[in-house]
Amino acid sequence: MMESVSDIRELRGHVAQWKREGLRVGFVPTMGNLHAGHHSLVRLARENADRVIVSVFVNPTQFGPNEDFARYPRTPEADRDGLAASGADLLWLPSVDTMYPFGPEAAVHVRVPVVTEVLEGAHRPGHFDGVATVVSRLFHQVQPDVAVFGRKDYQQLAVIRRMVRDMAFPVALLAAPTLREDDGLAMSSRNQFLGPAERPVAARIHQVLQAMRASIQAGVARAEVEAEARSQLEAAGFQVDYAVVRMPELTEPDERVKAGPRVALVAARLGGTRLIDNLEFEA
Ligand code: PAJ
Repeated sequence: MMESVSDIRELRGHVAQWKREGLRVGFVPTMGNLHAGHHSLVRLARENADRVIVSVFVNPTQFGPNEDFARYPRTPEADRDGLAASGADLLWLPSVDTMYPFGPEAAVHVRVPVVTEVLEGAHRPGHFDGVATVVSRLFHQVQPDVAVFGRKDYQQLAVIRRMVRDMAFPVALLAAPTLREDDGLAMSSRNQFLGPAERPVAARIHQVLQAMRASIQAGVARAEVEAEARSQLEAAGFQVDYAVVRMPELTEPDERVKAGPRVALVAARLGGTRLIDNLEFEA
């Protein structure tokens, strides 16, 4: 039986009881509207912990003024049914007042430097401050031993890793692989906003990422690879925010060093829908 709680004392009661029993608590933070990608995180948490808590909270502080906070899809019944099936033990559903007792504007904020200043951080000012702020609060509320994040949001994972290390949160982070549709499109709550003509085009992002990997591995210069990726995406109808190859920590690779781990990252808009994806590989 999966229980849902919205009261912090009730949440703490469950966690305290489990910890007294010596059980390991796993945690998957989400914004709801759950798809198979989210459920794969729950299963990974299940494999690495004795009890699994999933939070659903659409966090106002990580949306910009012109972003889709109000129209972010909310599907509580389907989320609950899916979570019961994927093996969650407890659903944590805080209200905005529980998360931000002094209001979102007046909240104590967590700001992670450097890694938040590029790519998504540059295109969505304040976004990662909102993410770090809410994830630090969730960690204090839930006090998990293990927390699972998806590689789909590569930079978000880098931000959380940096925050956990810098603030000495007693939590082990697990990174889950990106779940994709059959044509390679990364699963995302935003995919449902794609029109029928846009949906097949959206899969081009994954193909372009694979082409970027192949070109880098074949020794093509990075600037050329990035320019080619951008023009392929534009030709397919995307407005491109970035299409780049970076070091794992998201700094620019030194051109003289040919080998080692790299990540290709794309953010692009198709109509009104902004999509992100990435591909990690060895150069
Ligand atoms: P949300 O977009 O709901 O994503 C919750 C988790 O699911 C994140 O760790 C994300 O990387 C992961 N995820 C999304 N799509 C995935 C896919 N196709 N395959 C694998 N994992 C996937 O990310 C957030 O919420 C929020 O920023 C949050 C961390 C909850 C803070 O508000």
